[in-house]
Amino acid sequence: MKGLILSGGKGTRLYPLTFTSAKQLIPVANKPVLFRVIESIRDAGITEIGIVVGDTAPDIKAAVGRGGRWGVKITYIHQEQPLGLAHAVKVSRDFLGEDRFVMFLGDNVIQGGISPLIEQFAASDWNSQIVLTRVSHPEQYGVAELDDEGRIVRLIEKPKHPPSDLALVGIYMFDHNIHTAVNNITPSWRGELEITDAIQWLVENGYQVYPYIHRGWWIDTGRPGDMLEANGLVLEELEPSVAGYIDRDSEVDGRVTVEKGAEIINSVVRGPTIIGERTRIVNSYVGPFTSIYHDVLIENSEIERAIVLEHSEIRDIPARIQDSVIGRHVSLIRSPIKPKAYKLTLGDYSKVGIL
Ligand code: TTP
Repeated sequence: MKGLILSGGKGTRLYPLTFTSAKQLIPVANKPVLFRVIESIRDAGITEIGIVVGDTAPDIKAAVGRGGRWGVKITYIHQEQPLGLAHAVKVSRDFLGEDRFVMFLGDNVIQGGISPLIEQFAASDWNSQIVLTRVSHPEQYGVAELDDEGRIVRLIEKPKHPPSDLALVGIYMFDHNIHTAVNNITPSWRGELEITDAIQWLVENGYQVYPYIHRGWWIDTGRPGDMLEANGLVLEELEPSVAGYIDRDSEVDGRVTVEKGAEIINSVVRGPTIIGERTRIVNSYVGPFTSIYHDVLIENSEIERAIVLEHSEIRDIPARIQDSVIGRHVSLIRSPIKPKAYKLTLGDYSKVGIL
């Protein structure tokens, strides 16, 4: 089997972070989501992986390389424009050949990996298997209707009256018949070739499409709130370790990971939390569900349930920062210069919540 990771797209819901970086490279618990996806495909025993890339191709290629680090072989597939998930399959035709494959959205995080579902599909003669999970608000998702034998009969996008509470997770398995399907569908109202339409085509043309019901958590990190949720869930599962320095005046609990070269000085850090390489936490409080990436300075400030990316600086902030995603090279500093006012230089689409 081969793996296909979709890592193109525009990431508009994560502006302004995605103006300067691919959303799949935003770290969750200090590891880019895309790296987590590569690892779960590799852990399922698949070593030939194609990554569909768009405008952010240079960033993704620089971060991932040829895959040697993970013991896999990466092939990049260029998608001129994000014309839909089924379009991404279409442009991957040469890479996929006649092989069965798993397609994984590069911005999804799933608990427990994908080995069990890969094993089930590999052992079957089904044409496709789609991963579903039970959700409490199915009307907000793509939802599957099953027949009495448990086969998929219909997929409906955001249904007003959901036929089940089984939502589609961004992981799909196909055999070569999907190529006929993607060539037989037309763009949806939003101008995209939809993978749900291609799967529906398989069902209507007599191919065997079965569900795999995933029982752990699963997060599509499309919006900042989803990133924070995924970050919290992954942090809770992280095996804590301390490779950095903690001074005697600090109070750091057992669920905190301190990466090498990090320093915690006269501060309180409560886990689950991760402090990245060469980051300094000085006279500060870092609360649960926080990931501070590499080369960050946090001084005389309090932060909780947040993600801070590399080379940022947060100093002398009088109120606690919470539920926040802060990009790279950001300076958030209390200014001593008069007038006493908020002085902001914000990129397009920035979101700031003031006390
Ligand atoms: P989406 O989250 O559906 O789309 P997006 O990344 O463009 O985000 P937004 O809606 O905020 O603008 O995409 C899911 C994943 O699939 C994501 O990793 C990007 C990838 N993708 C492609 O590779 N090609 C495509 O044509 C599309 C639509 C998405």
